[in-house]
Amino acid sequence: MSFLLAPSLLSADFLHLENEIKMVNASNADWLHLDIMDGVFVPNISIGFPVIKSIYKVCTKPLDVHLMIVDPQKFIPEFRDLGVQYLSVHYEVCAHLHRTIYQIKDAGMKASVVLNPHTPVEVLTDILEDLDMVLIMSVDPGFGGQKFIERSYDKVRRLRAMIDKRGLNTLIEVDGGINLERGKLMLEAGANVLVAGNAIFKADDPIQYMKQMKTE
Ligand code: DX5
Ligand code: ZN
Repeated sequence: MSFLLAPSLLSADFLHLENEIKMVNASNADWLHLDIMDGVFVPNISIGFPVIKSIYKVCTKPLDVHLMIVDPQKFIPEFRDLGVQYLSVHYEVCAHLHRTIYQIKDAGMKASVVLNPHTPVEVLTDILEDLDMVLIMSVDPGFGGQKFIERSYDKVRRLRAMIDKRGLNTLIEVDGGINLERGKLMLEAGANVLVAGNAIFKADDPIQYMKQMKTE
């Protein structure tokens, strides 16, 4: 099954970030997933612009940025200037989601909406056509290594049905608790982009683990 693999840098060794990114460059990962947190929308703070700028200098894979911040529309030009290709904003913080999506697209990036575990896929009924990707959270956003929420398979199945019924090619990305086994089940449910943090970066051999995820 053809799909895209996006390792989440949140679980990397931040003391040796350059080595971790070069490892991802050398792997068969398709994108690098970056988690940006503000301590307001989620109870954690991760990395900001100076770090992303340094990452962009070394990373040869497209950057897939997951914004867990309030007012994401404020920073769209900055993310574009940092070479971001896919920009994901949370449904839960966007009062004017349609406007934000078109600001992202007009800036030259692919636009994606993220849904928290409690947000039903049906809220996208009137915006699905405008999206390049939907990101389904299979944990509550904020931390790596959390317990996977089993109900997420059903959400992906329902979203896949909505997308196929309309003949769209919107990507479905899943994020949270994904490993080899759950990744396979998510692909069967209809996802086509897998994010994985802990499963990859805490593996004995991350390159080998990614190879297995891509081929098994
Ligand atoms: C959680 C982040 C994830 C996280 C996934 O808020 O959005 O991208 O890094 O980590 P794992 O795969 O360990 O659940
Ligand atoms: Zn993420």
